[in-house]
Amino acid sequence: MLTVTTRAELRAELARARADAAVLGGGRLALVPTMGYLHEGHLTLVDEARRRADVVAMSVFVNPLQFAPQEDLARYPRDPDGDAEKARERGVDLLFMPDVAELYPHEPRVLVTPGALAERWEGAIRPGHFAGVLTVVAKLFHLLQPDVALFGQKDLQQATLVRAMVRDLDFPLDVVVVPTVREPDGLAMSSRNVYLSREERGQALVLSRALRRVEHAWRMGERQADTLREIGRDELGAQPQVSVDYFSLADLETLEPIFGTCDHGAAVMVAARVGRTRLIDNVILTPNTGHVTRS
Ligand code: PAF
Repeated sequence: MLTVTTRAELRAELARARADAAVLGGGRLALVPTMGYLHEGHLTLVDEARRRADVVAMSVFVNPLQFAPQEDLARYPRDPDGDAEKARERGVDLLFMPDVAELYPHEPRVLVTPGALAERWEGAIRPGHFAGVLTVVAKLFHLLQPDVALFGQKDLQQATLVRAMVRDLDFPLDVVVVPTVREPDGLAMSSRNVYLSREERGQALVLSRALRRVEHAWRMGERQADTLREIGRDELGAQPQVSVDYFSLADLETLEPIFGTCDHGAAVMVAARVGRTRLIDNVILTPNTGHVTRS
């Protein structure tokens, strides 16, 4: 694995990789963008990248542009040596680990505007967050010019916005969204889980429990969005230490909330605070999610 920290080195190594690929006749490049502190969720993206490309690149960069001043930028967990080791073991070919001055040599004057998709859910609670995400993702796409980029489903609104940006701004690449990887007890993997105390970690399980209950009701044939929402909210209410920011059903394309029936499917999205830690999770209901018949 090659590790590069500057744009100049990156350009040189990419040119070399492309020349080699031309000789070998392959040459698809996959990018896994991350903020580091890698866990199995990120490494599963690497596995999927490997299936889809000849060269797998990963970026590790904690992007200050997507954190509001009161958020956890300073304490965001970092482990560059551990990340490099995990990336190497999992088969990443090229690791791009720039520092802030390298990626933002001056205060950016132009940002990507995410539009209406970013006005709800995370965007409503974290104003400016998605402009920061899309701006850095656009920069990474320009710098690495991947054929395919992989994102985790856990950050569903982010993945939906990246897809929309790629389509609307004609980035020549495919976006692949990979299902959330969970701990054996259901907790969605996240770098922020490290903030949770033992007790909070137990409390945090209510998020995946609520999603599972809604998924079960969907499998049993329930199609009323309000009923499904209530089922999830009831479960969350059983853990009053967890403060819920939202729990809702949303359209898979527009992320607008769904009222009435949801025969075509829905994203069930939750965000909550457990102690000082903010967690998000979701499940996607599709007509193929499965219909369980009672025996
Ligand atoms: O999901 C993340 O880790 C980040 O938001 C991303 C996509 C790497 C942009 O900083």
